[in-house]
Amino acid sequence: MGTLDGKVAFITGAGRGQGRAHAVRLAEEGADIIAVDICRDIPSMDYPNASNDDLTETVKLVESTGRRIVAREGDVRDRSAMETIVADGVAAFGRLDIVIANAGIVRLSKGGDDQQVFRDIIDVNLIGAWNTVEAAIPHLIEGGRGGSIVITSSSSGLRGTGSDATGAQAYTASKRGLVGLMQVWANLLASHSIRVNTIHPTGVATGMVLNEAMAALFAANDPGLATMQNALPIQMLQPEDIANAVAFLVSDEAHFITGTTWPLDAGFTVR
Ligand SMILES: NC(=O)c1ccc[n+]([C@@H]2O[C@H](COP(=O)([O-])OP(=O)(O)OC[C@H]3O[C@@H](n4cnc5c(N)ncnc54)[C@H](O)[C@@H]3O)[C@@H](O)[C@H]2O)c1
Repeated sequence: MGTLDGKVAFITGAGRGQGRAHAVRLAEEGADIIAVDICRDIPSMDYPNASNDDLTETVKLVESTGRRIVAREGDVRDRSAMETIVADGVAAFGRLDIVIANAGIVRLSKGGDDQQVFRDIIDVNLIGAWNTVEAAIPHLIEGGRGGSIVITSSSSGLRGTGSDATGAQAYTASKRGLVGLMQVWANLLASHSIRVNTIHPTGVATGMVLNEAMAALFAANDPGLATMQNALPIQMLQPEDIANAVAFLVSDEAHFITGTTWPLDAGFTVR
């Protein structure tokens, strides 16, 4: 018996990293998965997104748990694509219980077109999460069984650190904006027993961090990175650490938790 037996979860950015870890962990608890990832790069970014092969690997990993998965290429910036994908998933599995609005991008290096960098990060991280959740809400309400929405913010969404990099500023603004959206939805949906929370991870070992652009910043002792240290002697979390916490947050054991900002950050925010 898993804690999520028979439930269905819609997860964005599921091609790799934390999104894949959520898909596998929730499937291990008995959930069927509706997965979406852009599976292509965004030109203003300085590192690659997940590929189609990455999403195929997520499918294999979920299926190896014995659960089912509907996986689609799709861009969270496209509301109608999100509506179609979640509707297809609900048609296949018959219900929706959990939403993990996880897709996100960053750019910490300078260069590129600043206006474009800022707009793209807000578009994916903030408007993309809005599209994801708004596409899912009618299905959650129609199910009449309550639900749990988890929005992936960041330690940056709780604490702004000084940076003159446009991408870092946009990232902080987008992740803080998610807290505002979460509070609106938590109030709006509480009467339906639909819970809404943000999570705030510190650095996690994924493609967002383990890439050439970030390695170059570390090699150059970029001052922006010096502020990114955890209180606990843990340099970086693993995607599974975040997925384990989320598996609890979406389970019935957390049935009373809504409207919260949950730091998953090895003490980053108290430091
Ligand atoms: N890695 C970290 O240090 C860290 C820390 C705090 C918060 N976060 C947040 O965690 C979330 C997951 O990131 P991750 O660490 O797994 O990094 P990641 O880059 O490995 O995963 C992000 C996923 O989102 C997908 N994606 C990007 N743009 C998309 C779009 N427009 N539509 C659909 N999918 C899109 C990518 O292809 C990728 O698979 C993000 O919201 C990120 O901001 C990451």
